[in-house]
Amino acid sequence: MSFRLPGSSVRKADAEREAILASPGFGNAFTDHMIAIQWSVDKGWYDAEVRPYGPLQLDPAASVLHYGQEIFEGIKAYRHADGSVWTFRPESNGARLQRSARRLALPELPVDAFVESLRQLIAADGDWVPSAPETSLYIRPFMIADEAFLGVRSAQHASYYVIASPAGPYFAKGVAPVSIWLSTEYARAGKGGTGAAKCGGNYAASLLPQKIAYAQGCSQVLFLDNDGYIEELGGMNVFFVQRDGTLVTPALSGSILEGITRESIIRLARDRGITVEERRMHVEDWKNGVASGEITEVFACGTAAVVTPIGELKGEGFAVGDLSAPAGELTMSLRQELTDIQYGRRPDPHGWMVKL
Ligand code: COI
Repeated sequence: MSFRLPGSSVRKADAEREAILASPGFGNAFTDHMIAIQWSVDKGWYDAEVRPYGPLQLDPAASVLHYGQEIFEGIKAYRHADGSVWTFRPESNGARLQRSARRLALPELPVDAFVESLRQLIAADGDWVPSAPETSLYIRPFMIADEAFLGVRSAQHASYYVIASPAGPYFAKGVAPVSIWLSTEYARAGKGGTGAAKCGGNYAASLLPQKIAYAQGCSQVLFLDNDGYIEELGGMNVFFVQRDGTLVTPALSGSILEGITRESIIRLARDRGITVEERRMHVEDWKNGVASGEITEVFACGTAAVVTPIGELKGEGFAVGDLSAPAGELTMSLRQELTDIQYGRRPDPHGWMVKL
């Protein structure tokens, strides 16, 4: 696929960019360019371009605005010490975008076009990849159905875009243990639903419980299935470290996002000889396990969150953990190993890093 380049260069002033890169936060500011590729039933994928970052023009009847036919990805670009820019397992994100597309009846972008779209954005906006420790450029590919039609069926026109935003830590307090709110009233996904797809609707469903979590002083929500088994945090997967060193994470049930960080942590842990169990785990097992000392560490992981220790879980009549306890040793060493690979500070044993 070849990409049309913008006729004229649009760039924020160097001083403005440098100020943003010095203190990026998460998701606040965006780079100078974006990628756009069109799709229609008749033409397939067409009109790939790099264009100045700016508002989209949508017909008010565009299906995404009414029926939420939308999917997205999250992937980071890392600056290595020699100035080069790399990303992590982009084919895995491209393949997951295809799986999400299938579930949302959207067209499947070829994985090589997905990877090329990242390359094109970095070619235009490489100077937006920050270099301060533990910062990155968070890249957000997404696809919307934008046919102007109000009938309920999969749209015959869709657009794929990629935008990017310099990123520091996802959580305001950095890599400190976070407090999680247990949502027993609201579910994120159900059997046969869209929980395994990365689609906006899943996140929309999490916003009310997330608001309640904030009001309770928590920074994320834990979702359970109908029987009280642990699913995920809405935007992150969850892991438990047992006293005997075993790692446990909820099995992919069809309603949990297949996290690429989740899979990478499993791989790195198994490389160390650690037993990793992907299985069902009940929220009462979390409570009882911490009380008995059987569970020694809990952490969340995702592209945005990387690996973040969980200090406590709170809910109506439910409390477990201690926010003032230090982050767990295995949590922090897996985080270190993963980020060392991502930032080129140690060899990449699985060939996960791709130079952009
Ligand atoms: C990610 O980790 O990339 C996510 O998509 C989680 C959240 C920021 C939506």
